[in-house]
Amino acid sequence: MIYLIFFVLICFIILIMFANKKQRKSLWNRHVVITGGSSGIGKAIAILAAQDGAHVSILARNVEKLDDAFREIKKYIVTEDQIITRVPVDVSCLEAVENNLLEIEETIAPIFMLVNCAGFAACGRLEDLTERDIKSLVDVNLLGTIYSTKALIGRFKKRREGIIVMTSSVVGLMGMFGYSAYSACKFGLRGLAESLIMELKPYNVSVTLALPPDTDTPGFENENKSKPLETKLMSEAGGLHKSETVAKQILEDALRGHLFSYVGFESFILTTLCIGMSPFSSIIELIIQFILLGPLRLIGAFYIKQFENIVLKCFKNPNIQEKKD
Ligand SMILES: NC(=O)c1ccc[n+]([C@@H]2O[C@H](COP(=O)([O-])OP(=O)(O)OC[C@H]3O[C@@H](n4cnc5c(N)ncnc54)[C@H](OP(=O)(O)O)[C@@H]3O)[C@@H](O)[C@H]2O)c1
Repeated sequence: MIYLIFFVLICFIILIMFANKKQRKSLWNRHVVITGGSSGIGKAIAILAAQDGAHVSILARNVEKLDDAFREIKKYIVTEDQIITRVPVDVSCLEAVENNLLEIEETIAPIFMLVNCAGFAACGRLEDLTERDIKSLVDVNLLGTIYSTKALIGRFKKRREGIIVMTSSVVGLMGMFGYSAYSACKFGLRGLAESLIMELKPYNVSVTLALPPDTDTPGFENENKSKPLETKLMSEAGGLHKSETVAKQILEDALRGHLFSYVGFESFILTTLCIGMSPFSSIIELIIQFILLGPLRLIGAFYIKQFENIVLKCFKNPNIQEKKD
């Protein structure tokens, strides 16, 4: 019986993949802007865009990291005409973001794709986060994306083309122990993405919400320093993904105009389960979601139960942390 359910599930996944196959847009000679392009997932996307023949502008705060990334990305250009630029800017300042984006539009080329990747996670129980932690989480992860998008959206609409990527997270679809403030920001991006999709429908501008799983990046390494044991135990099951794999999937989904970009079977289950009032791209996709939602709720319940057990186990055995260390 279990094999039959598994077989039917695999058939549905294959069907979804075909149902979702939209034409892939080209980046050749196009201008791609990536906030947070000096490190991790953002830098991996910048390299792929350079390999696809795009002009690439990366935005971040630290000038040294920007310089290093600039030199690395340059190695991947495929024509001498390609322009790679680095812009030191803090995305949590609207005025600075607007000025810098308008300047690179005028000096390099009209921007075709905006990838909002600047962000970071600070883990911990809510009562242990400082006011500064909470404010900077909101400023960078949520406001940073709103500001960069707001700065360009009018131009995209006028030109009747454009692609916007927002980097949320798996915890942008489900809450998880230790991610309270971060998760709130990443949930916010979903509301932003889905509202914008409605606003942009007539203008040929697409929005993709990326939901990366745990990905091996400097940011993730940093995040691990403050991660409670409960969070570590819950994340262990999902494994760690390479930034190149995640970047490739994000770029592929964005260029095909998909709303969600996810990696791996568990993220597929979660995304389908949380589909709610999200727009659908075809009737086949809608039917598949309609059929799968019930059975997936049971699989989801199994995960939730496991997470609850982890929380209770750690609560009842406070020494477990020391043993683990
Ligand atoms: N890695 C994961 O497991 C994972 C999972 C889910 C979602 N994500 C999300 O994916 C995105 C990228 O994460 P990552 O792991 O690749 O992180 P990362 O390696 O730390 O890279 C983050 C990038 O954002 C830039 N940045 C941070 N704050 C900024 C600010 N205020 N203004 C402008 N740039 C800023 C950083 O440069 P500067 O510090 O120099 O500014 C850096 O270029 C984030 O939004 C993160 O929340 C990551």
